[in-house]
This record gives sequence, structure tokens and C-alpha cells, in this order.
Amino acid sequence: MKTMRPKPGANDLTTQSATTTAEIGAPTPPSGKTVFVKTYGCQMNVYDSERIAESLAPSGFRPVATPEEADLVVLNTCHIREKAAEKVYSELGRIRKLREARRAEGKDMVIAVAGCVAQAEGEEIFARASAVSIVVGPQSYHRLPALMREAEAGTRTIDIDFPAKSKFEALPERPHPAAPAAFLTVQEGCDKFCTFCVVPYTRGAEFSRPPSQVLGEAERMARAGVKELTLLGQNVNAYHGEAEDGSVWSLARLLKAIAAIPGIERLRYTTSHPADMREDLIAAHRDLPVLMPYLHLPFQAGSDRILAAMNRRHTAADYLRLIDRIRAARPGIALSTDIIVGFPGETEEDFRHTLRVVEAVGYAQAYSFKYSPRPGTPAAALSDQVPDAVKSERLDRLQQLLNAQQAAFNSACVGRSFSILLERKGRKPGQLTGRSPYMQAVHVAAEERLLGQIVDVEITASGANSLTGVINRRDHHGMVQDMKRESDAYGR
Ligand code: 5AD
Ligand code: SF4
Repeated sequence: MKTMRPKPGANDLTTQSATTTAEIGAPTPPSGKTVFVKTYGCQMNVYDSERIAESLAPSGFRPVATPEEADLVVLNTCHIREKAAEKVYSELGRIRKLREARRAEGKDMVIAVAGCVAQAEGEEIFARASAVSIVVGPQSYHRLPALMREAEAGTRTIDIDFPAKSKFEALPERPHPAAPAAFLTVQEGCDKFCTFCVVPYTRGAEFSRPPSQVLGEAERMARAGVKELTLLGQNVNAYHGEAEDGSVWSLARLLKAIAAIPGIERLRYTTSHPADMREDLIAAHRDLPVLMPYLHLPFQAGSDRILAAMNRRHTAADYLRLIDRIRAARPGIALSTDIIVGFPGETEEDFRHTLRVVEAVGYAQAYSFKYSPRPGTPAAALSDQVPDAVKSERLDRLQQLLNAQQAAFNSACVGRSFSILLERKGRKPGQLTGRSPYMQAVHVAAEERLLGQIVDVEITASGANSLTGVINRRDHHGMVQDMKRESDAYGR
């Protein structure tokens, strides 16, 4: 841990940004300080934000829903593209003003930057944003309570070490999660070094949590009512956790063990690399009914020349063959992907190969991005950068195709019935929202008492990004009983 004195007079920015706030499920001490954690970026950051709040709970910190009420504001940041990183500085300007307002009322606020921007930019953050007192990386946030004590004593602190000992061993045991669908980080970091990507630098080398630790956490979550678990890792299918007996578990073995935990009814994992999609994992899609029929498998680009320049370790044909094997193992599986347009040197012809892969696969959902040069990555130093206008035009064409595929996939679901885990209240009264096995958001007309239940839903309508449905009263055993109880209560 390094400490430094504040640099008086350094400027920070003052524009606004809107992102989602993580739900935090930490226990509430009767008194003490308050913390607000704002999450940017990927699902692993959502998981980390929950654990950041949990790591502060033993020191008396209670999570709050807005930064205005917080003694400590933590921005858990993302560095994957330039836009994501810049949002953080905009938000810091806004938070600094909130701190001024609190100070006018005789209260204070400590501002911390956590996550991948913290790791990548380190002390530069203090120079760009004078209000920040703590910079803490994704592998050291369990030390936040100590960093906070130093910050309160007036010292700026930075901790972006990759500790030899995993933070998972230092974090307190998880409290009961609030939601029926939860994330569980099993693997972190990446050794693939795709030439566009900052992850190997911000998250460090691949690390797999031991199977016993993962199983313990999964069992506790299941006992607390979690029904759906998504196993997380930057390169989750490279999972190779060492067990106490010295054996090394693959992701397939881990999935099988978690599938056997009573109460776990749905399993997912993300994000995967095609080169790590091994036979046993493909077979798990055939053999494990609780493994949902949905797979996010990025291919990034369709041109073999660009794939080689990206250091992706596969060709377009390798990827398509892999998709065939996965579909043979689990017919009907829905596929999702990540695609980058405008990687340095990408020609119109290269880009058309990307469109061809999309046409050949047919995606249920996809994430597509303009290439964004990231400092320190090999691709950022290449001379043949693609002009932004060309990237925008390609992204438009790609997204038109992807949107059409998604809409077609969604509309083909109308009239089918799916089991839906009702996760939260819907936007409209009388509606609950959940996910289909294929990861689509489904709005269901249902009473609030069904929150957290898995119900059988007939899909009645589809939109660009979601489905609507009604509970199928005839087939679902649990539902029939529930309805009976309700009619008894009403004396009918
Ligand atoms: N520019 C654009 N997109 C990127 N991604 C990763 N790095 C970059 C970059 N420099 C995308 C990839 C990855 C997803 C999480 O973000 O598609 O799979
Ligand atoms: Fe980044 Fe994924 Fe490539 Fe790893 S495999 S370097 S996380 S894009």
C-alpha cells in the first residue's frame, strides 16, 4: 500500500454521466457510516461492488442508495474502452459537488476510485481528480477499511498491488444475497493477451478460485434462496481450480458439482474464449439440464487476417466448427457474442467476413463495439488506425443485422412456453420481470408474492429487447397449488 499527501489545486472535471448503481446486500449495523458504490462495466464489477460493500460492513458501513447520503463514495470503474474510462471523470466532477454540499452542512465525504481505471491509471487519478482520496485496484479492495482510515486521517492512499494471496481469502463470508439470481466469481484475470484488450493488465494473470471455496459459496447462496447462479470470469472457461487433493478441476467439473447442489435450478457461465471450449464443457451442455441453453461466445472479427492481428488464436472457420459442435450437443442453444469493428488495418473486405460469420451463426443477442485504442496495448501502437467515420458506418451496418437477428429470435418465441425465474418487480404495476432460459427479459403479469419463484410462462408478445407473457396455469405444478391456496383464502 502506498500513501501520498493530497496535491492541492489539481483540477477535476464537472460533467454528468448516468450509469447503473449496484444493489448492495450487506448487513445493516445499527449505527455508523454509510457507503455508496456505483458500478460501471461488466458483471464482474457488479459482483465486486457487492463484495466491496460487504468488506466494509464489519467496520460499521451501511450501504445507501444515493451518493448524497454517503460518508464514502466508491466508483467501481471500467477501462475496457475510452468512453467507459472517461465517464468516471465526469462522475467524479458531479460527486465533488455533492461533497461540497455535504461539507456546507458540516458533514464530509471520502471519494474512492476502485476497479480497472484505478488499476490502469493509478496516481494519475489524483492529478486529474483532486477530490479523490483513495485509489484501489480490483485485486486489493478487501483492504478498503484500512485505506479508509488513512483517508479520514487526511492521507491520500493508493493500493494497486496484485497481492500474492487472493483477496477472496481476506474477504468476509458473504451475507445472504437479496436476489434469487446471483453472480459468483470463479476465475479472474486473463493470459490470452488479445492485442486490443486491457484486461490482462488491469485484472492480471489468470487465477482460479479453489473448487472448495466456490462450492462453499454456492452452497451458502443456495441455502439463502438463490436459484440461479452465473459463474463469472474474464476467461471463465479457462477455469482450472486446484482442489485440496491436488487434482485440477475444469469448468465442466465445477459446473457438474454446482448443478448437484440442492436448490440450484439454473446455471450459466460467462465470458468464454473459443480456444478454451473443451470437449467436457461442450458435453456439459448436453448432460446438465440446469445449465441454461444460452452461451456468450465472443468471436470479435470474421477475417482471419484481423483475428491473427488480434492474437485471438482461432480462425473464423474454427469458430464456426465450434458452434456446430455446441449446437450438436445442445440443439436450440441460443448464442450471443462480442464483435469489434474497425480494428487497425480492417478493410471493407475484412469487415464483410465479420458480417458473414454473423449471418452463418444467427445470434439471439450480441454486443458490438467500435475499436477503441487502449494505452499500453499492442494494437494501440499500430499505424493503420481506421477513421472514426468508417468505424461508425460499419457498426451501423453490423447492428442492423444483429438487431434483425435478435428481433427474429424473439418473435419466434411467441406461442412457446418457458420457465421464468421472476427476479424483480416490473415497470408496470401487476408485472414481474425475469429471464427466459435464453436470457431474454420477460415481463409477466404476476402477483408480487411470486417474486423469486420459477413459473411456467407462455410468451404472448415480443419486442426488440424483451418478451411479454402470461403464467401457464395448467402445467406448472407449484402454480396450480399456489392458485388453490389463494382461492381457499378467498373462500372460493
Ligand atoms: N475496443 C473495443 N472493444 C473492446 N473490447 C475489449 N477491448 C476493446 C477495445 N479496445 C470488447 C471485446 C470484449 C468486450 C468485453 O469488449 O469485444 O469481448
Ligand atoms: Fe481481453 Fe477476453 Fe482477450 Fe482476455 S480473452 S485479452 S479478456 S478479450
